[in-house]
Amino acid sequence: MIRKKSISIRSKKTTYDILIGRSLLKENNNYLDLTLADKKIAIISDETVHNLQYANFLDQISGLKVDPHLFLIEPGEPSKNWGVLKKVLDWLTELNFDRTDYVIAFGGGVVGDLVSLAASLFRRGINLIQVPTTLLSQVDSSVGGKTAVNNGPAKNSIGTFYHPKVVFCDTSFLGTLPERAFLAGYAEVLKMALVFDKDFYKFLIENQKLISLRDEATLLHIIDKSLELKSKVVEIDETEQGDRALLNFGHTFGHALETYFSYSEKLLHGEAVSLGIVLAARFSSQEGYLSERKLENIDEHLHSMKLPTVTTQIHNGKLDVLKLLTFMKQDKKVVGNNINLILLKDIGNGFIERNVPFHKLEKFLQLQLS
Ligand SMILES: NC(=O)c1ccc[n+]([C@@H]2O[C@H](COP(=O)([O-])OP(=O)(O)OC[C@H]3O[C@@H](n4cnc5c(N)ncnc54)[C@H](O)[C@@H]3O)[C@@H](O)[C@H]2O)c1
Repeated sequence: MIRKKSISIRSKKTTYDILIGRSLLKENNNYLDLTLADKKIAIISDETVHNLQYANFLDQISGLKVDPHLFLIEPGEPSKNWGVLKKVLDWLTELNFDRTDYVIAFGGGVVGDLVSLAASLFRRGINLIQVPTTLLSQVDSSVGGKTAVNNGPAKNSIGTFYHPKVVFCDTSFLGTLPERAFLAGYAEVLKMALVFDKDFYKFLIENQKLISLRDEATLLHIIDKSLELKSKVVEIDETEQGDRALLNFGHTFGHALETYFSYSEKLLHGEAVSLGIVLAARFSSQEGYLSERKLENIDEHLHSMKLPTVTTQIHNGKLDVLKLLTFMKQDKKVVGNNINLILLKDIGNGFIERNVPFHKLEKFLQLQLS
C-alpha cells in the first residue's frame, strides 16, 4: 500500500507529494515517464548508496525510456561542503542542463541537503526529486525544503529554502542500512514525538522492539507519522520564523557536539541529536518544566534503543565545555550573549525558551559533562 501525503507551502503557492511505501519508483513508472520525458536527468548519490542500492534503483526504473547521468560523492558529513557543492554545479554546467531538466538526490541527508542546495542555485532553480535512502532522510530531511552545506565549524550555515517536486520514501532502500545509521535516524523520529505528540511517543515506547527489528508495517507508520508532524509545522512556518524552530529540539547541543568531533564517524548526526535530546530534556528539568520521572523515561528509552545518552560513550574523559560553547555560538538561534533553546514543558509539548544566557548554559554543561 502506498501512503500519500501532500505538503502545501502557502507562501510559495507550491504543493508536492510525499509518497511512502515499497518499490515506489516502480509503482510510479507512469508518473515518472510523463514527468521525465525528453528531459535530461542527473542522479547524484554517494559511493556507498551507489554500491548497495543503485541496482535496485535502476531495476525499478528499467521500464522507462531514460538515460540518466550519474555523479557520486564520498559518503559522510565531510562531503557537505563548498568544494563538493561546486563540483556538482560544474558538472551540471558541463552537461548543459537547463531549468526544465531534473536532478535526483539519491541518498541520505548529506546527499539530500547538498543536492537540494545545488538544485536551488543552478540556473536559480532546477527541478529536484528526492529519493531518500536512510531512515533519517525519510522521516525528516527530504521534506521541508531546507538545503545546506557546512561552512567549517558552522554547521548548515550556508543554505536556501527550496522544495522538491516529489519525494519517494521507499522502504526497499532501507534494507542495507547498517544498524548504527538506522538507529541514528530513529533519534529524529523520537524528536518529533517529544516536541509534538505524546500519543506518538507512547506508540514508540510500546513498539520499540518492532522498530528495532525494522518491522515493515511499524516502519511505514513511524515514517508516515513523522512526516505528518513535520509537514504540518513546515506548512505554517516554512522559513522558521516561529514554531518550525521546535524541530531543532536536541540540535543546538547536538550540532555543537557534531562539530566538536569534526563531523567524524565517531559521532553520527542522529547520535549527536540523541545526546542533544538528553541534554535539552535535562535542562528542561533543571528549569522546573519537565518532571524527573519523564526525564528518566526518555533517557531509558534512548538507552534501550542503543542510542548514546552520555558523552563518555563517545569519548573518554571530560569534554572542553568552553570549546563546545564556541560551537553553540554559531547557532542561528543566538541573540547577543543569549540563545533561544527548544525545551519540553512535557512529553509532546515543546516550546521555545527565549534568551537563555550563555553563562547559565556554561554552568549547566560543566555539571553535565563532568
Ligand atoms: N534538511 C533538513 O531538514 C535536515 C533535517 C535533519 C537532518 N539533516 C541533515 O541530514 C544529515 C544526516 O543524514 P543521514 O543520517 O541520512 O546521513 P548520511 O547521508 O551521511 O547517511 C549515513 C550513512 O549511511 C549510508 N547510506 C545511506 N543510505 C544507505 C542505504 N540505503 N544502505 C546502506 N548505507 C546507506 C551513507 O553512505 C552514509 O555513510 C546531516 O547532515 C543533517 O544535518 C537535514
